[in-house]
Amino acid sequence: MSQKIRKVVFPVGGLGTRFLPATKSMPKEMLPVVDKPLIHYAFEEAQAAGIEQFIFVTGRNKHPINDHFDHAFELQNVLSGRNKQDELHRTSDWLPPAGSVSFVRQQEPLGLGHAVWCARHIIGNEPFAVILADDMVLADKPCLQQMVEAYATVPGSNILGVMDIPPQDTGSYGIIDIENKDNAGSQLVKAKGLVEKPAPDKAPSTLSIIGRYILQPEVFDILGSQKPGAGGEIQLTDSINQMTAKHSTYGYRFDGVRYDCGGLVGFVAANVAYALARPEIKGRMVEELEKVYERSGVAQKK
Ligand code: G1P
Repeated sequence: MSQKIRKVVFPVGGLGTRFLPATKSMPKEMLPVVDKPLIHYAFEEAQAAGIEQFIFVTGRNKHPINDHFDHAFELQNVLSGRNKQDELHRTSDWLPPAGSVSFVRQQEPLGLGHAVWCARHIIGNEPFAVILADDMVLADKPCLQQMVEAYATVPGSNILGVMDIPPQDTGSYGIIDIENKDNAGSQLVKAKGLVEKPAPDKAPSTLSIIGRYILQPEVFDILGSQKPGAGGEIQLTDSINQMTAKHSTYGYRFDGVRYDCGGLVGFVAANVAYALARPEIKGRMVEELEKVYERSGVAQKK
């Protein structure tokens, strides 16, 4: 079996209710951070990691995602007629080769585990990546690329992107049960189990899973009969947990800053951080932010 990570799954079937009314007629994954949709960053991260096949697990009202990953001939004709080369470049030059984008429908929103399982026929029998677009990682080296490199040191394992979180936040994330507490602080941490969204007093650690996974295809066998877990949903965490006895599972503490764009504060913070990371607008952004701070009275209170 080839060990190269060639395929990525983007579960994009969620309703995005935290962002209503913005998500009433637009998928949450199309919300822009500065000038690119969330899903576009996820796509670029996968591309940077050498991924060749991009699999979107979609649901109702997600057509704008399909259109985003296609040509927009009318727009391209107009831009071309006006010789708008930069705009043309941003519209379509980044499209992956024909045949490398697939869409599969998750007919019912039964949970993240179920969404990933829906991609099983397209993945087949090889290790693959999963990216949750609402977890953004601002990093010098893209997060999935870091994980692919880490995977080369422990081939055949599952690797999950992880970060340390405050103890009171464990109920919002999958949490790793660390095998060897002596190595708890290292970048690659072996897991003896995983728990989805445990209450702080039940959490085995404060090392939380973020939306980056490299998984072995055996996860599909388990997902196929996975019973609903936390929140009544079929949880990916529960199936990976069941695999850990047979397949080593590691948490990988990535280098970079993660923005949880599944919530309003993280999303707005990501917009600020990604704008400040753009040299052409950084100076003006700083000026504007200082003014916003002053006007809001926050600066004085400090
Ligand atoms: C999902 C996973 C969870 C993980 C989180 C990262 O939860 O189930 O284990 O920690 O993504 O963002 P969700 O945010 O979909 O509730």
